[in-house]
Amino acid sequence: MSEGLVTVSYIASTILFILSLGGLSNPETSRRGNHYGIAGMAIAIIATILGPKVTSIVPVVMAMLIGGSAGIIAAKRVQMTQMPELVALMHSLVGLAAVLIGYTSYLDSSMQFEGVEKTIHEVEIYIGIFIGAVTFSGSVIAFGKLSARISGKPLLLPGRHLINLGGLLAVIWFCNLFLNVESGGVGMLLLFMMTGLALAFGVHMVMAIGGADMPVVVSMLNSYSGWAASATGFMLSNDLLIVTGALVGSSGAILSYIMCRAMNRNFFSVIAGGFGTAGGTTVASEGPQGEVQPVSAEDTAELLRNSSKVIIVPGYGMAVAQAQHTVFEITKLLRERGVDVHFAIHPVAGRMPGHMNVLLAEAKVPYDIVAEMDEINHEFPNTDVAMVIGANDIVNPAAQDDPGSPIAGMPVLEVWKAKTSIVMKRSMASGYAGVDNPLFYKENNRMLFGDAKKMLDEVLTALRSG
Ligand code: TAP
Repeated sequence: MSEGLVTVSYIASTILFILSLGGLSNPETSRRGNHYGIAGMAIAIIATILGPKVTSIVPVVMAMLIGGSAGIIAAKRVQMTQMPELVALMHSLVGLAAVLIGYTSYLDSSMQFEGVEKTIHEVEIYIGIFIGAVTFSGSVIAFGKLSARISGKPLLLPGRHLINLGGLLAVIWFCNLFLNVESGGVGMLLLFMMTGLALAFGVHMVMAIGGADMPVVVSMLNSYSGWAASATGFMLSNDLLIVTGALVGSSGAILSYIMCRAMNRNFFSVIAGGFGTAGGTTVASEGPQGEVQPVSAEDTAELLRNSSKVIIVPGYGMAVAQAQHTVFEITKLLRERGVDVHFAIHPVAGRMPGHMNVLLAEAKVPYDIVAEMDEINHEFPNTDVAMVIGANDIVNPAAQDDPGSPIAGMPVLEVWKAKTSIVMKRSMASGYAGVDNPLFYKENNRMLFGDAKKMLDEVLTALRSG
């Protein structure tokens, strides 16, 4: 394939990637968006393999077979609840690729540059390895935190801002030395030292961020992985990789902004770390704040049956229990009986952006009854029953009432304003942010204890028989 044809193919891929991102911004067009993305990537891979830069196709095909098989196995095995961890792990691979390509480019003797070109090439290598190493180690720690292998508690080293600043100054200083050395050996040593610092910086940055702020970290690493890919594109002189990386980088940055707005946080204060407390499922240490009122599945069905307006709030627990199909069965039954049922989606519900939308789409819940937080929050006072399914932090009134809470200021779904709220969960354990939830003790709140799927099956049976 000639260079010209490759360029045309790359332009076609770029357009398809832009259309893909546009499609993915809305659940109704997301399937189409995915197809655009698949087509764009297929064209990009074929054009690259058949292009003039690939001299031997065998290693490329072997690498694709190994990578493709690993991808297919992971996609088949990974549960929906493990998707956020998988995404974090994939970001780490993009970072690792940028690091390895950076070293390979430096060692590649076929690339001989002089003067300004040499400096530009070395800056590309240096920045590419730096972003890649930060993305790699940060994503590995995010993987650990999301899979609860590492505590969600922020690690706050004394003088941590000074440590970061010192590290950054050292990286800049090494860069200056790196650009002025003649010997490849010393250059490699400087690259190694910078890589070590960048890896430590990635670990430190994500370790300092508390459980409650992990959504911003996930989207931020998404953005970093894009910039790492873009840097790789510069090193390999591949225009498509530069553009694609920039698309991922900037859309990740926009997502980080949306996440920060959803949590009422300033991006820089999140990155500086220290917000949020332990993740996991510990019961808050201050002990119970009052009496909770348990309710049975039959009584829940009775409450739902007698309602004219119901809002369902899904959370991480619905994903764990895989209860989305039963939720939709209940929704259909209630709507057939004239009950107005809507879903309220919090932007950080679950463990990844759009987590709840994906589950509801999988269960074929119509999009027109699924509302974003801003669209529906004012409707709770006119609602008979707000049914909270495995959600906790996103319905915690402490975000509004307790300025000392780690989630203070985060907008939440105001389910307690409904006539009755019903919270479905297995115990009194806290949510991801590790804080107690005063909602459970409110007079108009009922607790339906048990696995969400099991309890919803019981509610469905009671509704059918009633
Ligand atoms: P959480 O606050 O984590 O609460 C989920 C609740 O589900 C838990 O309290 C748990 O209580 C319950 N649960 C777990 N398994 C269950 C099951 N099988 N059946 C019934 N209940 C079950 O979730 P949320 O309300 O969706 O809020 C999301 C949290 O995750 C926020 O703090 C957010 O910042 C954080 N986060 C979000 C993201 C993104 S991007 N969305 C990424 C990282 C972190 P029991 O153990 O008592 O059952």
